[in-house]
Amino acid sequence: MAERTSRGIGPVILLGSPGAGKGTQAKQIVERYRIPQISTGDLLRENVQRGTPLGVAAKDFMARGEFVPDDLMYDMVAQRLRQADCERGFILDGFPRNPAQAGWLDAFLEHEFFDNPQRGKCLPIVIRIDVDYNKLLRRITGRRSCPVCGRIYNVYSQPPRVADRCDVDGSTLVTRDDDREDVIRDRLEAYELQTKPVAEYYARKGRLVSVNGDLPVNQVTDQIFQVIESHRPVASDKS
Ligand code: AP5
Repeated sequence: MAERTSRGIGPVILLGSPGAGKGTQAKQIVERYRIPQISTGDLLRENVQRGTPLGVAAKDFMARGEFVPDDLMYDMVAQRLRQADCERGFILDGFPRNPAQAGWLDAFLEHEFFDNPQRGKCLPIVIRIDVDYNKLLRRITGRRSCPVCGRIYNVYSQPPRVADRCDVDGSTLVTRDDDREDVIRDRLEAYELQTKPVAEYYARKGRLVSVNGDLPVNQVTDQIFQVIESHRPVASDKS
């Protein structure tokens, strides 16, 4: 397996509604394939916390559960994808979130990313994690995360060993500002209206694969690994 996992797998795009488990599954993919997770939500939250101009511009949109304007997203994502650790592949979690972002990403990959002979052309694997709508509220309200290592917990389904403490580093777990019930409804609505068409965009291109996200975490992970293994470039590919 070491030899297989050392080869690149190209871009992996995780789609799914708020609370579907994109962040949870991205961390499993990072561990197995050693490619970075690029969570646009995490990047934005870091910017908000540091008070950067991007963070200041994004803060109110995020607090209302609305999307941050596309032009701000493009600069942030392009800067991140240009970093050397993305060469063997990367996981996009939370991007693209509307059809315009999907079109931008395709153009970016075609004209800038695949341009580099180190990377070869490796079309994204697009995986949508489907979860029953009625389960999402409980998943989101029960979520706690570690501010230091980023590990994600759930007080109902994946509690830490000691209440409110991270199993890895003992830090006090935090609840995200936008995980309040009034904001969650707006986030779910934004997903229905703006992000669902992204799945249709990739389905039209024959690139969408869905997995059942209602199952326990490890079973969802198994499905995702199967999808990646069945789509990854063959050994003779440059990857
Ligand atoms: P973002 O941070 O991307 O949030 P999101 O898409 O709403 O997704 P979540 O992080 O809520 O859920 P997740 O799918 O990662 O679930 P998780 O693994 O944590 O975006 C936040 C905001 O940033 C947006 O509202 C917007 O304002 C802005 N933004 C971000 N990207 C943008 C973009 N591209 N354009 C414009 N604006 C953008 O799991 C949830 C919980 O469920 C956890 O507690 C977990 O332990 C539990 N769980 C996971 N899997 C399972 C399972 N199989 N069984 C039981 N429990 C499970």
